[in-house]
Amino acid sequence: MEPKPFPLPSRREELIEFLETRRSNLAKMMTGPGPNAEELDQIMSIGARVPDHRKLAPWRFIVFSGEARNKIGLSLGRVFKQNNPDLADRVAFEAERFLRAPVVIGVVSSPVTCPRGTPEWEQRLSSAIVCYNLCLASQGMGYGAQWLTEWYSYDEEIAAELGLSASEKMAGFIYIGTPKAPSLPRPRPNLADKIRYYS
Ligand SMILES: Cc1cc2nc3c(=O)[nH]c(=O)nc-3n(C[C@H](O)[C@H](O)[C@H](O)COP(=O)(O)O)c2cc1C
Repeated sequence: MEPKPFPLPSRREELIEFLETRRSNLAKMMTGPGPNAEELDQIMSIGARVPDHRKLAPWRFIVFSGEARNKIGLSLGRVFKQNNPDLADRVAFEAERFLRAPVVIGVVSSPVTCPRGTPEWEQRLSSAIVCYNLCLASQGMGYGAQWLTEWYSYDEEIAAELGLSASEKMAGFIYIGTPKAPSLPRPRPNLADKIRYYS
């Protein structure tokens, strides 16, 4: 059977309004509930539907929910303590980072060696869009979402704990939950300073 073509783009007011007013929700201001298993699958399915040069899917997900958030916390606490022996009073806070939201999706940028040569840069960019798409999907379903990297995205021991290979990097962790309060406006750049019409 012939694949059915997608409809041509049409103006969607609700989507435009959503994108024009969209705002992240602070992880530290989140509570439950988070997405259920079915919603989480849908969030990841939407998240993975991104531009991806040569269909390499150069990313993967690590999902943290329930007790697994305490398990990663043990590593966060241990590594933080080891790296910051003078900050003993912050260890408990660091160990609880993943407890801020009911669900956290780690997005691993996982470039593949591509014989036809999709540059690694483009593969990393694709991972970034996955992160943003996860935020959009979560917010579209009525949850709050924030894309964080914090220190543990860049720590080698945490990378080993999460099973990252030498070429993999954390693109970020998407915290998803129910916002305790609405987000406040965030200053936005003056676009006139950012746009040049080439002539
Ligand atoms: C790659 C990346 C990493 C980020 N890491 C952090 C972080 O570690 N801590 C933080 O407060 N915000 C971080 N942010 C910013 C927030 O995700 C978010 O952009 C900000 O809260 C406001 O975004 P909004 O325009 O969606 O409201 C990061 C953003 C990006 C793109």
